[in-house]
This record gives sequence, C-alpha cells and structure tokens, in this order.
Amino acid sequence: MKRKLLTLVLAAGKGTRFKSDKIKVLHPMLGKPMIQLVVDCMFALRPEAVYVVVGHQKDDIMQVEYSKPVGFIHQKKQLGTAHAVLAAKKILQSNREKTLLVINGDLTLIPPETLRPMLIQHRKEGNALTFLSAEMADPTGFGRVSYQKNNVIRIFEEKDATPAQLRIKEVNVGVYLFKIEELLGALPKISNKNVKGEFYLTDIIEIMSRGEGRVGVHKAPVEQEIVGINDRYELAKAVEILRQRKIISLAESGVTIYDPSTTWIDLDVKIGRDTTVYSSVVLEGKTVIGQRCKLYPFIHVRDSRIGHEVKILTSTMIEESTIERGAQVGPFTHLRPKSFVRAGAKVGNFVEMKNTVFGRGSKAGHFSYLGDTEVKDNVNIGAGTITCNYDGEKKHKTLIEEGAFIGSGTELVAPVKIGKDSYVGAGSTITNNVSSGALAISRSKQVEKPGWRRKKRKK
Ligand code: UD1
Ligand code: CA
Repeated sequence: MKRKLLTLVLAAGKGTRFKSDKIKVLHPMLGKPMIQLVVDCMFALRPEAVYVVVGHQKDDIMQVEYSKPVGFIHQKKQLGTAHAVLAAKKILQSNREKTLLVINGDLTLIPPETLRPMLIQHRKEGNALTFLSAEMADPTGFGRVSYQKNNVIRIFEEKDATPAQLRIKEVNVGVYLFKIEELLGALPKISNKNVKGEFYLTDIIEIMSRGEGRVGVHKAPVEQEIVGINDRYELAKAVEILRQRKIISLAESGVTIYDPSTTWIDLDVKIGRDTTVYSSVVLEGKTVIGQRCKLYPFIHVRDSRIGHEVKILTSTMIEESTIERGAQVGPFTHLRPKSFVRAGAKVGNFVEMKNTVFGRGSKAGHFSYLGDTEVKDNVNIGAGTITCNYDGEKKHKTLIEEGAFIGSGTELVAPVKIGKDSYVGAGSTITNNVSSGALAISRSKQVEKPGWRRKKRKK
C-alpha cells in the first residue's frame, strides 16, 4: 500500500561550529541558503507537505523563498534531534497512517534521485523505519552504524563511541523514513543519558528494531552526496561539489566554459547555448544570459538579464541591469542597478551607469558617468561626459534625445534636456535645456598672450 508522504526538515540548531552570528542553515551555497536547497529537494519528492522545525533565527528561516509554501514548527529549546521530531507531535498524531521523511537541515547535496529508491525500498519492505547509510573513507563527524545480534542495529554517536566503534566506516547520513504510528510509539522511549545530554533521534533505530517493527537500511550510492556540513571548511568543500555540478550541467546544455576551475555560477543562473565563458567569471543570483554571448575574463554579473549575442569585455561589473541583444559592454564598465543598455549599444572603458536607459545604437566609449539618465537612440556620448545628477539633497534626471552629440569633457547639470540631433561642444557645462538641432557651448573664450614664455624666462 502506498502511504501518503509528509516530510520534516530539522533546522532548529544553531550550528555552533560555524562560529557565526547567522545560523548554519541560512549560510548560502551558490546563491541559495542551505535550508532552501534541502526544502526544495523535499518538494521534488511530491509530498503532501513539507514542515521545517525551527528555533534559532526562525523568522529569517521563514522568510526564505521556497518553491512552495512550507509549514513551520517551533522547537523552543534545542534538546536534540529526537526532541525536534517530537515538536511536530500534533501534526504526527493527526497523520498516523502516513509516512514521514525526516532529514537534517544541512544535507544539501543529496538529490531527490537518491531518496526515491529509498522510499520504494521502505514501502516494499514494509519497514517501520528505513534510514540512509553510507560507506565513508573518512567517517569523522558521523554516527556509526553497528549491526548486532538478532538484526538489532545501533547508531553510535561519535562523542559516545569507543575506539573500536569509531573504526566503523558505515555512517548514518541523517535521512529517515518512518511509519508515523510506530514513530509515535517509539519516540517517548528515547532518553538523554549520553555524553551530550541530548535526545538522539538515532537511538530510535535500536528501540524500534527491538519493538515497534522492522528497521531497514538503504545504502546511499554516491559518497560525494554525503557531506555533513558542520563547519565552514566543510561548507567550502560542499560548495565546490555543487559548483562543479552546475558547470557540468551548463556544459552539457551547450555552454562553452574555458576554465571550470575559476568560474563561479550560482545555481539559479541560466545561460543560453553557444555562449562562451572565459576564465575568472562570476555570475550570481537570478542572472539570465542569452545565446551566443561572449563573457570575457574577470567579469562579475549579479541579478541581470543579458540578451543574445552580447559581448561583455574584461573587468566589468553588472548589477541588477539589462543588456539587450547585440550590445557590447566593457572593458572596465560598471552598470549599477537599473541600467538598461538597449540593442546594439556600446558602453566602453571606465563608464559607470546607474538607473539609466541607454538607447539603441548609442555609444559611450570612455570615462563617463550617467546617472538617472535617459539616453535615446543613436546618441554619442563623448569621453569624460558626466551627468551631475545629485545636488546634495535630491537626484535629478537628464534626458538626451535621439541623435544628440555630446562633446568630450561635458558636464550635464540635471535636471536638463538635450534636444534631438543637437550638438554640445566639448568641455561645456550645460545647465539649461538645449533645443533640438542647436549647438550649445559653454566655456570661457581662449586667451592667447604672444611671446609669454620668452618674457617669463627673462624675469
Ligand atoms: C546527526 C546524527 C548523526 C549523523 C549526522 C549526519 C543525531 C543524534 N545524530 O549528528 O548520527 O551521522 O547527523 O549529519 O541525530 N536539530 C534540531 N533541533 C535540535 C538538535 C538538532 O532541529 O534540538 C537539527 C540541526 O539544526 C541539524 C540537524 O538537526 O540540522 C542535525 O543536528 P546536528 O547537531 O548537526 O547533528 P549531528 O551531531 O551532526
Ligand atoms: Ca550535522
């Protein structure tokens, strides 16, 4: 019989070994908090519901963006993993005939593909409890699985284990499937008489195999998926595994990645086929990159949309911005939030933009700042053009109409409008609107003093 599935993620502990003000499961792995990875893996199993046991920093855990709505259970004091499951007692009591999957909140590398066969085994064998185990070359940090007489299985937590038990390589991963009725029968029998003084969920394995029913073990196929992330070095190692997985999946989908060892691409980033990523590129957050783009070395893109056939040249940073098809940005460009570079535009060396729309086919090749500006199509922004958008109190807008030509070294003091097809002479400080088709020039007349140098020397 196929029982309905509920899932419970344990995430109330602080994760002391992280030595962090932020609780362990909120630390990010390639752009997503650990807890989100585990919860979303649960949803992939299509359960009736996903519950998360929370304690420390519960409000922050509740605000994470999960793929579907989650139920939260508050464990006021963290007295151990069994105590955490007991916090869900009310929910369990009204779902006695169902199956419960319990998973530790830090098992972020286990894919749903590993858990599905475990569910099948659990149902097929009719177990009261099935837990996930793995053979580890280095079992340090895990509870050890010990098979005793009469099919009794015990887990020895590292702190409580004898040297002989510590030599066991088979470990308890931290994923359990229960018949809820039997779980409710066994939970109250767990004591806290151990080195840590905690109620260990792992003790339920021995208790059940003596009483409530059959205990099965499901062996995890891939050691790489089984990492307990207990400190920040273990986190770094786990992130490295995720990072490689992401790069492999992009490569398989048709993206060329020249130097996988220096490329950082967050889990949610999407890249179209035949795009080439050079070395030392960092793509973060919800960035989407089109097809046939070229991303040259040392570029950093966060939460941005890049169209097809865009070239981003070296040492460029792009934040919360959009670049349309065929545009070219960089080298050494900084697009700050809400920049919108339209199709075929060119933004080059040492140009900074913020909250600016930059029109089709327009060019800003050298040393400029454009803030709170709307640049229409086919505008030329000369080297060293600066919009003076801030008066010390407020931000003001600049509008540059289609086809305008802004000479080099110009300051545009906002609010100001530069008319269509107008021309601003180099070195101008523009404080008034410029009419369309006009030439505006504001600089002091050049003075010439003949023979000045020779006279100076004589003195
Ligand atoms: C646990 C297992 C160990 C297993 C290991 C795998 C127990 C007693 N031991 O050990 O056999 O090899 O995981 O990683 O379960 N939590 C709560 N409330 C609590 C205590 C813990 O919600 O009162 C949560 C934590 O936030 C964490 C999870 O339970 O996500 C596991 O707790 P942790 O302290 O990491 O257990 P381990 O000592 O690693
Ligand atoms: Ca752990």
